[in-house]
Amino acid sequence: MSRLVVVGVQWGDEGKGKMTDYLAQNSDVVVRYQGGNNAGHTITFNGQKYALQSIPSGIFNPKIKNVMANGMVVNPKAALAELEKLNTVGIRDYQLFVSDRAAVIMPYHIALDGAYESAKGKKMIGTTKKGIGPAYADKYNRIGIRMGDLLDKEYFAERLNDALAVKNLELKMFGLPEMEFEPLFEEYLAYGRAFKKYICDTANLLNNEVQKNSKILFEGAQGVMLCIEHGTYPFVTSSSPSAISVPLGTGIPPKYIDHALGICKAYNTRVGAGPFPTELEGDLAHYIRERGHEYGTVTGRPRRVGYLDMVALRHACRISGIDSLAIMLFDVLSCVKELKICTHYELDGEKIDCIPSTLSAYQRCKPMYIDMPTWNEEITEVKKYADLPENAKLYLQKIEELVGVKISHVSVGPDRTQTIEI
Ligand code: GDP
Ligand code: IMO
Ligand code: MG
Repeated sequence: MSRLVVVGVQWGDEGKGKMTDYLAQNSDVVVRYQGGNNAGHTITFNGQKYALQSIPSGIFNPKIKNVMANGMVVNPKAALAELEKLNTVGIRDYQLFVSDRAAVIMPYHIALDGAYESAKGKKMIGTTKKGIGPAYADKYNRIGIRMGDLLDKEYFAERLNDALAVKNLELKMFGLPEMEFEPLFEEYLAYGRAFKKYICDTANLLNNEVQKNSKILFEGAQGVMLCIEHGTYPFVTSSSPSAISVPLGTGIPPKYIDHALGICKAYNTRVGAGPFPTELEGDLAHYIRERGHEYGTVTGRPRRVGYLDMVALRHACRISGIDSLAIMLFDVLSCVKELKICTHYELDGEKIDCIPSTLSAYQRCKPMYIDMPTWNEEITEVKKYADLPENAKLYLQKIEELVGVKISHVSVGPDRTQTIEI
């Protein structure tokens, strides 16, 4: 498989960073194709833990080309801070390429992200407040600034002027201070200078890599249930994390995508607001949250925890054409007192197997469960599928049966080495 997509098939934080880093050991190129620094991808190897937000997870290997493709929204200030942080821990030798067409997150996007959230009051999305939604909105409204613009002083001046004419009206509407042209212009020109060595036409670069038959890994951010098209709208992010996004977000034709690997926790989590039918409260939620360190990588918010939801998982696998699954954080389920899997929803007295399009219907969905046997053995040291406890194997087999997709990997701890290949 030359070109493989890593896709989160839940509500994000499934362990995409860990699996991307694991698979990157045999890759030539790692590409982020959507999202921005709303992502928080954790990678653990040689006793060190790293958290990446917008930099691709292949950055630790000097032989890998790391691409931030056109589908991303890039906060250049935050990306430079990430590189600086890597620098302080000795990660200095890397290959990075940033698309000249990637959208730039500007300070007014961040201010407006907060303003829109406040205006929604109790109905706030619970965004990461990184300016993601407003930056994508400007891209589609054709008043966005792109990374390549920062390299052309006169053109950038024109684009910024045009954008500020609209954005200052919006800021004023929210009672926020307007932004002046000059300081923004100077600051972002400086980011352009800092990124000059990385900025290029990444679609050309990637198509050349395809022609060379290089091994390319596409690293999704967020998860399919947060997809702007197929997620739990409006409680979603503003891009599509699905494998469908890869061609658009990179410039590689769809026929070149060989395999989509769905990254799936052994249970469900969600950070931020929005429907979550299998959400748990009480002791079990607390047990899973603490064992799985279920606190946001970006915002530190406690993640909501729940039983595995097969309706959502089947939906995500269907939408993204998932070829195989990696079951993550499997070790967290050892010693749980009670274990269930949601197979269907009940909506207004009817058994359903789909995600309703309206929030109002989705909020009325009640999970229908089957009980699963538990196991008390710790599995963090297990290296082979055959050595897993019988009930743990039963749980994995049930997932395969209920989704109709084979499991290719099982993760039993955060470290690179704690990965079972099937
Ligand atoms: P991502 O956003 O999908 O990359 O996931 P995050 O990094 O936000 O969250 C996943 C968390 O689970 C991180 O803290 C990882 O270090 C951790 N993790 C990944 N795989 C495993 C695993 O198999 N077991 C345990 N205990 N932790 C894991
Ligand atoms: P990774 O890549 C989990 C959630 C936010 C919020 C919604 C919209 O680490 O899996 P946004 O700032 O994107 O406009 O917020 O999406 N969200 C994530 N949840 N993991 C992520 O990324 C997320 N990125 C955004 O919490 O509910
Ligand atoms: Mg994360």
